[in-house]
Parts: sequence; C-alpha cells; structure tokens
Amino acid sequence: MITLGIETSCDETAVAVVEDTFHVRSNLIGSQVHLHERFGGVVPEVAARAHVEALNPLLEESLDTASVGIAEVDGVAVTVGPGLVGALLVGIAAAKAFSLATGAGLIGVNHLEGHVWANFLEHGPPEPPYVALIVSGGHTMLVHIPEAHRHEVLGQTLDDAAGEAFDKVARVLGLGFPGGPAIDRAAADGDPHAVALPRAMADSGDLDFSMSGLKTAVLRHVQRERAAGHEVDLADLAASFQEAIVDVQVAKTLQAATRAHVDTVLLGGGVVANTRLRERMETDASSRGIRVLFPSAELCTDNGAMIACVGAARLARGERTALDIAADPNLQLAS
Ligand code: KG4
Ligand code: ZN
Repeated sequence: MITLGIETSCDETAVAVVEDTFHVRSNLIGSQVHLHERFGGVVPEVAARAHVEALNPLLEESLDTASVGIAEVDGVAVTVGPGLVGALLVGIAAAKAFSLATGAGLIGVNHLEGHVWANFLEHGPPEPPYVALIVSGGHTMLVHIPEAHRHEVLGQTLDDAAGEAFDKVARVLGLGFPGGPAIDRAAADGDPHAVALPRAMADSGDLDFSMSGLKTAVLRHVQRERAAGHEVDLADLAASFQEAIVDVQVAKTLQAATRAHVDTVLLGGGVVANTRLRERMETDASSRGIRVLFPSAELCTDNGAMIACVGAARLARGERTALDIAADPNLQLAS
C-alpha cells in the first residue's frame, strides 16, 4: 500500500511517500527559514503563501523520487492540526483535491501523533504501553499511550513551549532564527554550570512545565552583565540555559514513566534534535532500566513521512476522513 503524506502545519512544506506504513520511499522538505529569518519568527501569512507556491512542485518531486505514479497512490494523509490555520488549509486543500481526482483514501492526521510515530519509521513500533515526550516549537507535553492511537496527557507547559523558549532566548543572545539549532551549536563550547539558572517546576510534584521564568532569568543575566560592563559569554550562557531545560525535561519524563508503570519512553518533536537532550535522556534512562527511543535528527523536525505513516496505519484500520474536513489549529490528541 502506498501512502502520500502532506505536512504544512508551520513553516516547512513537506511531502513524503511511504510504503506499507513504515518504509519511506521519499521524504522531501522545503524549508521556509530564509523567508522568516528577518522577522525573527514564523509569520503565518508568509508561511501560508509560501506553502501554496511550494506544494505542487514538491508533490511531483516526491512521487518522482519514490518512482511512484499518481495512480499507484492508495491513500493521502494530511496534517489537520494543531498548527497555523492558513498553513494547514493549504495542505488540506491539496490532499482533498488529490483524493477527489485519484480516488485515494483521505485521512486527516494529528501533527503530534506524527511526531510520536516518527520513531517507528526507524525503530519499528514498540509494544505499548509507553510514555512520549513531545517537545516542539508549539508544544511541550508528556503523554501516556496505553495502546496505539489512544493518548492520556499527563502534563504540559503552562506557558511557552520548549522550542519557543529556545527561539526567544536565541533572539536575546543575537544568535538568529531558528534558535534551537543555534543554541545547540553555541552550547557545544560552553560550561553548562557557568550561570546559575532556575529549574522551574522541577519539584512541583506534577508533570507540568514552565519556561517563562527561565527565559526572564536569561534576560536579567544579560542585562546585569552588560550594565556591569562585562561581555556576555554566549557559549556558557547557551550551555547553562540548555542544561536547565534538559534537566527538567529528563527528570519529568522519567517520573512520568515511573508513574505510568512503563519501561519505554519515546521522544518526538523538533527540540528532540537537541544534542544534549538526546545524550542526557539516554544516560539517565538507561541507568534506571528505561528504554528510550528517539528519531534521527531529520525525522525530529516537521516532515511528511511521520504524517504518512500514521495515516497509513489508520487507513489500514478502515478509517477514512470525509472530504469536508476542516483545519483545527487547536486539535487535541485523541483519548
Ligand atoms: O517540530 P518542529 O519542527 O515544529 C513544530 O511543530 O513546532 O519544532 C521546531 C522547534 C523550533 O522551536 C526549533 O528551534 C526547535 O524545534 N529545534 C531545536 C533544535 N532543532 C530544532 N531546539 C533545540 N535544539 C535543537 N537542535
Ligand atoms: Zn512539529
């Protein structure tokens, strides 16, 4: 079975072709970073317009790369939310048109479930139950997955998402956009214990997160240093900020695994590309006998293959989405 996956929820136009759920035949991404860079963040109208321009050529290229003809496509999976409404609508319109023209089954996919399933493309699906940490530009949440397609949210951020915090702090430090990869690189030469920063909600007893205090603490440190006439050591500050985020995420993820009585943890979302998060999660989880899975860095950030594989699994269960599906910018994970 051949499934096309279309992802346009934010600033990446992505189209993939997947065979039999987990075999990736093509996975192409057209990044819009250069368009949003000068604004220091994603501009929703610019993103939607760029998706319109990029989507059709990328769709053709993805089918070509996979050596798949239009008539061979059995299903078309598309992100319906959460995300930017205008951006989502572009992918949804294309998927509907494709389905209507070719008869391929249409299936709407939750972007967050896609981030979890990105793991299965490389590792195969583990036996549930498991806990997933989803950390991206828009989300930071811990989810218990007792069986495939069922989700219980255990905790989430009360303010900014982790990726958003990386992006905002990078802006304060003048490191550019997107901030996550820039901080990751700058932190490589820094001392993670050089600057004392808060570990917000580390001992709150629940599984929620908060990033805003940490962000403010970084800003205050920069202002204090500059007022005192000191030059800010960017590498040390980037490494200290990154360590503060990673400390809390690792601790809460392992607490979630213990509370939910699971021995497998999956990581998904753009922030999982972070070098330190991957290192720390692996060492801390293995010392407690917990297995941790994360996708390769390319599959952590938004892509079409993760959407295609969730869609293929749902189509195989007999699910179909009606042609009148709408974008849902605040779509929740199905319980
Ligand atoms: O999942 P994603 O591609 O898009 C959303 O669904 O939001 O995540 C994008 C986020 C951005 O905030 C970006 O700065 C962050 O992931 N990110 C990283 C790294 N690479 C991307 N954050 C920390 N370290 C990285 N290496
Ligand atoms: Zn994402």
